[in-house]
Amino acid sequence: MFDHQKYRPFTAMKKANRQWPANTIHTAPSWCAVDLRDGNQALIEPMSVSQKQKIWQLLVDIGFKHIEVGFPSASQTDFDFVRWLIEEDQIPEDVTIQVLVQARDELIERTYQSLVGAKQAIVHVYNSTSPVQRNKVFNLDKQGIIDIAVRGAKKVSTEAQKYPNTKWTFQYSPESFSSTETDFAIDVCNAVINVWQPTTDNKTIINLPATVECAGPNVFADQVETFCEGVNQRENVVISIHTHNDRGCAVAAAEMAILAGADRIEGTLMGNGERTGNMDLITMAMNLYSQGIDPQLDLSDAKRITRTVEECTNIPTHARHPWMGDLVYTAFSGSHQDAIKKCLAVQNDHEPWDVAYLPIDPRDIGRDYQSVIRVNSQSGKGGVAYILEHEFGIQLPRWMQIDLSQKVQAASEGNGEISSHRIHEIFEQEYLNHQGEISLIDYDIQAKDLNGEKTLNIQLKNGPQTFEIQSHSDGALEAFCSALATHLSINIDILQYSQSAIGEHTQANALACLEVNINDCGFKTCAIEQDSLKASFIAIVQACNKHLSQQTKAA
Ligand code: KIV
Ligand code: ZN
Repeated sequence: MFDHQKYRPFTAMKKANRQWPANTIHTAPSWCAVDLRDGNQALIEPMSVSQKQKIWQLLVDIGFKHIEVGFPSASQTDFDFVRWLIEEDQIPEDVTIQVLVQARDELIERTYQSLVGAKQAIVHVYNSTSPVQRNKVFNLDKQGIIDIAVRGAKKVSTEAQKYPNTKWTFQYSPESFSSTETDFAIDVCNAVINVWQPTTDNKTIINLPATVECAGPNVFADQVETFCEGVNQRENVVISIHTHNDRGCAVAAAEMAILAGADRIEGTLMGNGERTGNMDLITMAMNLYSQGIDPQLDLSDAKRITRTVEECTNIPTHARHPWMGDLVYTAFSGSHQDAIKKCLAVQNDHEPWDVAYLPIDPRDIGRDYQSVIRVNSQSGKGGVAYILEHEFGIQLPRWMQIDLSQKVQAASEGNGEISSHRIHEIFEQEYLNHQGEISLIDYDIQAKDLNGEKTLNIQLKNGPQTFEIQSHSDGALEAFCSALATHLSINIDILQYSQSAIGEHTQANALACLEVNINDCGFKTCAIEQDSLKASFIAIVQACNKHLSQQTKAA
């Protein structure tokens, strides 16, 4: 039964003097990628060794300096993977691996065994602290929970002493922090800090998880700010954030947590992780990037990132995934296409990016403009014109764009997206190459001077017969129309005329676009020739052919 009365609102703490809403993010936090642990734990089929190796390499190449590589005491594959990293010397000098372990003696011992020989490592220990976990899962009171944490912390430091050649960093997570009374979470963490006695040179990481996201991101920010105010030795503690996405606000919660004083963010590429996932590192990093902040991560090869994540998780990327989805830089709607086209035309490479509907330049992450404008029945003349211009070098006048886009729209109605090749095909079918009774064989123009009257000699084929006709006028087009009009006994008026170049320099072809009125019926027609006058003559001949074939059909 769908019944909201089954649920209670989250009891948010009361916070006086909150500071975070007035803060701004100016620099990137330090990042920790947990794809190989939290992300992997959440897969229907956990990653194979070769998949783990691929993700590892990707994370290193992107530039992550902290990478949680597994839960070696809980999984032999994870144990072996950690051994492979160390024994095969896969860990760059500036990268520190992190491993997760529950606060239990035998698991902590096994975890250290997996790390033998590492130059540096973060041992991440956790236990759960929220009321539902205390009361229903562990059946312990608050002191019982603190005892587990303290015992775990002690074991983590005594085991570390057995391996003095490794530079150890300790990390503690009060799992389910966001559902825990904040003052109690502070007590537990202070007890752990008291055991570890961090220093400026060897800081402790306290990681605050929203294990299940059960309130708004503003509530989480209040909790984090309160925590930062209450934690002991704040100067020797790195406050890390680990949000999940149950309410769809994991990124917002992480960003607000930074405003509230946090230093470090844990998450996964594309937000893979338990249930609705972990905080998406790509989204948060790109959010910073799009505000002019260096994310300290190289996300320029979006294709490699999405392809690798898809291959290793067997989860496809949603087409509308922020920043990375296939359709996120694509406009189908006519008004969007028009605005993008206008902005791109005036966007200067040396000026700050300012293009309507495109928060970043898609080329920054390896996308091209070709995919920006795509056409379906929602699209208008702007999109069709953009595709013809950018993919085929054809620049149409506005009146021609309107006519063509109606024809494209009719063709795409009910058929979804229409490809650029089909648009070009429609353009050719509708306006170019209209063969018929009449064809132009040759012509020459004689003029006494540039502005004076011209004599136009035309050689024309009408059916099987060839005709030589002559006409006189100040303008060549006028002379051509009047010759044809007399020959065919029709009225010809040119209503619109435009010509443009296709291609560059002397290799360019000329495109002539005309709207011709023949016996009160309008025909839009185009021709492409090396010479612009010839293109115009051929376009007019095509209009006559269309008129004649209409007449034949009507008869
Ligand atoms: O979501 C969570 O609480 C975790 C902890 C183990 C850090 O993944
Ligand atoms: Zn998690």
